Amino acid sequence: MADRYLHLTGTAPGRFLTRRLGLPQPAPLRRWTLETPHLDGPLLHLTAGASAVTGVAEVLRTSGLTVTERADRPAAIVLDATGVATAAGLGDVHAALHPVVRSLAPGGRIVVLGTVPSPDDHHQAAAQQALEGFVRSLGKEIGRGSTVQLVRIPVARIPGGASAHAAGSTLRFLLSPRSAYVSGQVIELTSAAPGSGSDPVADPAAPLTGRTALVTGAARGIGAAVASVLARDGARVIALDVPGAREELERTADRLGATALPLDITAPDAADRIAAAAPDGLGVLVHNAGITRDRRLANMPADRWASVIEVNLDSVLRTTDELLKAGTITRGGRIVATASIAGIAGNTGQTNYAASKAGIIGLVRSLGPRAAADHGVTVNAVAPGFIETKMTAAVPLFIREAGRRMNSLSQGGLPVDVAEAVAWFAQPDSTAVNGQVLRVCGQSLLGA
Ligand SMILES: NC(=O)c1ccc[n+]([C@@H]2O[C@H](COP(=O)([O-])OP(=O)(O)OC[C@H]3O[C@@H](n4cnc5c(N)ncnc54)[C@H](O)[C@@H]3O)[C@@H](O)[C@H]2O)c1
Repeated sequence: MADRYLHLTGTAPGRFLTRRLGLPQPAPLRRWTLETPHLDGPLLHLTAGASAVTGVAEVLRTSGLTVTERADRPAAIVLDATGVATAAGLGDVHAALHPVVRSLAPGGRIVVLGTVPSPDDHHQAAAQQALEGFVRSLGKEIGRGSTVQLVRIPVARIPGGASAHAAGSTLRFLLSPRSAYVSGQVIELTSAAPGSGSDPVADPAAPLTGRTALVTGAARGIGAAVASVLARDGARVIALDVPGAREELERTADRLGATALPLDITAPDAADRIAAAAPDGLGVLVHNAGITRDRRLANMPADRWASVIEVNLDSVLRTTDELLKAGTITRGGRIVATASIAGIAGNTGQTNYAASKAGIIGLVRSLGPRAAADHGVTVNAVAPGFIETKMTAAVPLFIREAGRRMNSLSQGGLPVDVAEAVAWFAQPDSTAVNGQVLRVCGQSLLGA
């Protein structure tokens, strides 16, 4: 279902009219293409006070942008606020960004680098937590398709001092067109030691070369987009969907040069069948399959409750456990599950769905650190907001319009936006990204 309002505001009379009426002004978002893989302009690198990490400039240079300390019209601004440890130090954040924020090019990126709030120093914790409120507010006011995020780099407990090196894959994602629909997010990196499940990227254009990726629910929608982006990044893809969707699944798999695996993920032998389809193991496992069976709790029969928990949560828990135990997910592997903002904010008629998606959040936060320690595998989740798919096209018009506009970018996302986030988690050098839930929601007002 096309977003006609976005087209209307893209015309001069439409823009005039909607501005006069005080209506939202969504800016068209620029996504990644082979021809335009980078943002269009330089990256302004600023520091608030003294930095607490080394190597920031070096890491920023891997973004493909020209890094500078002065720019008239930057496409991106990175503010290193890792050293801000007092309330007074927050003045440096204002002093750095206030003069330049207006000069950011449309569709630009602001990334604030912070550190993890300390449990032992409440002044540092207050100052670092303040950055979260700052970033989320700036995301709401910046407009013109620009986004704002906070990346926390752990500075404590790292022998030899903290380095920004672990933030490389995250900064490349956030400072590129791939993160077009991600805003107002806080990403907390772990202090994973190099070598603990990380691999250097041999070919930056195809970072998943040599890895097998299995995507569930891949016949259509977000899953098909995930399969496509992982194939673009060099992975051998196995696309799984229910036998009833076999034709659509085979069409998608053929288009991508992927292998089709018709299989209901709730089948008792699902993990064995997946392992058999991937004799060399899996480097990436994406749990994307999901269903809704909406009813208010008072009207919800047990079977509607059970089927949603079974597909969206229980089969994810079961197959993850079995595939990890069997060693099918290889060292350095990536597990990415699919939550939803409904699992964060809740939604009328979706007690079953929201419970299943909140369960996914519990799963990744708990399993992430242990899977890294025991198997060298990371576990993360995407939490999509309003994404333009068959699922949301079926939503009644007024609710659909509200869902589309109730976010800082005033529009719905596309399946590829979720897929790009999955691909970032899947990067071989995303080892420090673990136990995270990334909302791909244009900074939705729901559950914000
Ligand atoms: N579209 C959105 O706005 C949105 C928002 C938040 C979260 N999500 C989540 O993203 C994921 C994909 O959503 P979508 O919009 O692409 O949905 P979709 O309905 O278009 O696609 C889901 C796919 O999963 C498959 N599937 C369902 N049950 C299965 C099973 N038992 N075994 C194997 N495959 C199965 C379906 O056949 C289908 O191809 C889901 O987990 C959904 O909950 C979507």
